[in-house]
Amino acid sequence: MTTLAGERIRFTDLSPESGDTREEFLRGLRGGAPRRIAPKFFYDGRGSRLFDRICELDEYYPTRTEISILRENAGALAAACGPRCLLVELGSGSSLKTRLLLEALEDPAGYVPIDVSRPHLLAACERLAAEYPQLEILPVCADYAQPIALPRPLRRPRRTVLFFPGSTIGNFEPAGAESFLRHVAGWCRVGDRMIVGVDLAKEPRMLEAAYNDREGVTAEFNLNVLRRANAEFGANFDLRRFEHEAIYDAAEGRIEMRLVSTADQEVRLGSERLHFRRGERILTEYSYKYRPEAFATLAGRAGWSVLSEWTDPRGWFGVFALEFRG
Ligand code: TRP
Repeated sequence: MTTLAGERIRFTDLSPESGDTREEFLRGLRGGAPRRIAPKFFYDGRGSRLFDRICELDEYYPTRTEISILRENAGALAAACGPRCLLVELGSGSSLKTRLLLEALEDPAGYVPIDVSRPHLLAACERLAAEYPQLEILPVCADYAQPIALPRPLRRPRRTVLFFPGSTIGNFEPAGAESFLRHVAGWCRVGDRMIVGVDLAKEPRMLEAAYNDREGVTAEFNLNVLRRANAEFGANFDLRRFEHEAIYDAAEGRIEMRLVSTADQEVRLGSERLHFRRGERILTEYSYKYRPEAFATLAGRAGWSVLSEWTDPRGWFGVFALEFRG
């Protein structure tokens, strides 16, 4: 543990990137129907900057809609958290949405941002510490899907509140989302809470537009995983011979992000060679869109019940306050 900025930032480093990432990348690509590249490979420096641009696109409504909900309902959200809570954020990034909550919370006992990117996490904490001189900040550099013992703040919290915005829950398959909700409940006691953002089901046309923007930023973001494999894993993907594709599967209720090979081709990955047929796909991410009742049912199976739920006037996005009931 390291102490930064005097005593107010206590840093826990669980070194999340210690595994063999090249082997992990290869494993998904080698076998399986479909071939897969895990979404975490999107977010190197360039990928993170491209994603920030996606969030500003006209077509990409989720970020802006969620922020408007948090802003409009900050008081009610803070009431759902209660006084002197410990706020724990899963995948905190720049902690931009968090500020909307922090502004409204009554005397928070501390803030625990968890993120895999060490430089991002520490820079965000230094800025927050300057803006919130009263707040104890306890960053944890970790993959939040791994087992973590949460740090304890100096003042005893009345309850723990998990904050999981961005509809990242929608990037798990439903069974995975359920076990994830059970996993994080392991950090909680009965009565603790979670504020979670969930993108809601809507017309396919609008969903597909959000993942196929006119400027092609989304396409560049998706293709960035191949560029990264070339730079970091000794691959020679030809980026002109793969195409971005995002299609809504209504039966599954999800957007499917893929990279499609536009030719029969061979790709070298270090000492290995992979053959791709024309039209063959690599799956990069699912993004599930829930009906509010369906999300409530899923959360219920993991031991969480819905306390309150807020949406925008058009019902595009939902912010749920859940309570852990054991
Ligand atoms: N988690 C984001 C989402 O589901 C990620 C995302 C946005 C994304 N646009 C993308 C992933 C395009 C791959 C391709 O909305």
